[in-house]
Amino acid sequence: MSVIGLAPTSTDAGTTDMLPVLGDAEFLALARIMQNDARIHLPPAKKSLVHSRLARRVRENKLDSFQAYVALIERDAGERRRMVTALTTNHTHFFRENHHFEHFRSTLLPRLRARPAGRPIRIWSAGCSSGEEVYSITMTLLGENAAEARWMQGRDVKLLATDISQPVVDAVNRACYSAQTVEPIPAPYQKAWLVPDDAGFRIADTARRLVTARVLNLFERWPMRQQYDAIFCRNVMIYFDDTAKAELEARLVDQLAPDGFLYIGHSERLIGAAAERMQACGQTIYKPRDTD
Ligand SMILES: C[S@@+](CC[C@H](N)C(=O)[O-])C[C@H]1O[C@@H](n2cnc3c(N)ncnc32)[C@H](O)[C@@H]1O
Repeated sequence: MSVIGLAPTSTDAGTTDMLPVLGDAEFLALARIMQNDARIHLPPAKKSLVHSRLARRVRENKLDSFQAYVALIERDAGERRRMVTALTTNHTHFFRENHHFEHFRSTLLPRLRARPAGRPIRIWSAGCSSGEEVYSITMTLLGENAAEARWMQGRDVKLLATDISQPVVDAVNRACYSAQTVEPIPAPYQKAWLVPDDAGFRIADTARRLVTARVLNLFERWPMRQQYDAIFCRNVMIYFDDTAKAELEARLVDQLAPDGFLYIGHSERLIGAAAERMQACGQTIYKPRDTD
């Protein structure tokens, strides 16, 4: 059987299914939209990834080709957002790049604890994925048990978690994780801040209510007016080209308190104005120049 625009593939069930073919022109059109909407750079090497992630969107929209799909996203803003979401990579885990949490615990936490109670504490996980990062920070703030967490009572402490993808923001709000997912959490934190439930564990309310999760495209206007004591923007910038990275990093530095810390991913680095304004104080950890 020959179907225009479709290529036969084997499904897991062993039956033959028809996947739409992704031509170069459609790939370029989709890559342009990703670049425009999320600043995510899709080189030609990502064509097969784009194909496999979007074939389902083509089918769910009951279309038989990527040409028809490109035409759809050009007129349908909702589907365009779903396309961007489908092409984001959300890999994350609890206490990923643990040296950041070690630094936070040994350097920033004592300063926050010593701060006058009236001064707010603000932390931002930018590109938070499903919440493992922001809840790792929250547990580090709270400590190993309720007694250690007592210093936070009566203080104005808020953690913001943002991501371009609605499904992962929903996951932050659910705050439910499988037994396998919570494995990297150190045992004392598990004991203190996880509550068993049907599907695995959920984050205890004491920790969860400190976190606000919102959809936010990092390249659009940021509604936050306050500066942050710590910004975690890790394994997000790897998907952007240098122009976008430099722009975003400069904005992150503007949003950081003069005595705050910026944590970025292990394969990322500061470039442009951010590199001039910040100094390294640990592995992929930065603070504004000329502060203690
Ligand atoms: C690989 S995850 C990293 C999660 C976490 N920061 C960590 O290091 O484990 C990258 C996240 O960045 C988000 N992202 C990508 N482009 C974005 C953009 N333009 N604005 C906001 N979030 C974006 C993705 O949706 C994804 O959840």
